[in-house]
Amino acid sequence: MRMHRKSRLEERLAACSSVLTVADLSEKNMKIAALDRGSADICALFGNSNRVELEIGCGKGKFACETSLRDKRVNIIAVEKIANVLIEGCERAIEENIPNVRFINCAAEVLPKYLPAESVDTIYLNFSNPLPKCGYAKQRLTHPKFLEEYKLFLKKGGKIVQKTDDYDFFLFSLESFEKCGYAVEEKCFDLAALNDDRNIVTEHERHFMDMGKKIYRAVARL
Ligand SMILES: C[S@@+](CC[C@H](N)C(=O)[O-])C[C@H]1O[C@@H](n2cnc3c(N)ncnc32)[C@H](O)[C@@H]1O
Repeated sequence: MRMHRKSRLEERLAACSSVLTVADLSEKNMKIAALDRGSADICALFGNSNRVELEIGCGKGKFACETSLRDKRVNIIAVEKIANVLIEGCERAIEENIPNVRFINCAAEVLPKYLPAESVDTIYLNFSNPLPKCGYAKQRLTHPKFLEEYKLFLKKGGKIVQKTDDYDFFLFSLESFEKCGYAVEEKCFDLAALNDDRNIVTEHERHFMDMGKKIYRAVARL
């Protein structure tokens, strides 16, 4: 089903320029675009040199905004390829005057263009599309192709935290982490049973919990 483009989207995106970077897509080939490496000045973006955490596929930005509000000493960069949903997070960050969150409207494939080497401490992959159909595995955000690209900006000793409701995707991810040299430190097969009061519930997580589905979480360290 096609999503309706929100009214006045371009105007609203422009009004969020203090928190939003829109990808330079003048180069249409993502691989070529990403050759122009590490162009973002992260210290200038946030006005400090605090720790940086990255959420890829942030949707409407609930997790990114709440993670930033919880600890103002951490800078959060939230990435989403669909501007139509991303706009909600950007507008919330401005309305609530959240100082430590920034958004990039781009696909994960182009992130090495923006993020300098060893600039990110943690990558969150929250309810990434599981893409179960045959032939789409390469687009999963935990496919070895992506896990190798994350090494271009993730710090040595940095971690990836993945949450999903999809068991097959979870197993696929665990295998990919190990294949690419990430040490799996946590494999949780029922997040609700952990009673982790630090867990920030995302939009999709709330939806799946309300359906009574189990949530899986993995932490993998480089
Ligand atoms: C199922 S939603 C989850 C949204 C949110 N993280 C949550 O937990 O509620 C997955 C999101 O990832 C985004 N996404 C998928 N592939 C992406 C990619 N290659 N680069 C950036 N965003 C991507 C989709 O547009 C979608 O908004």
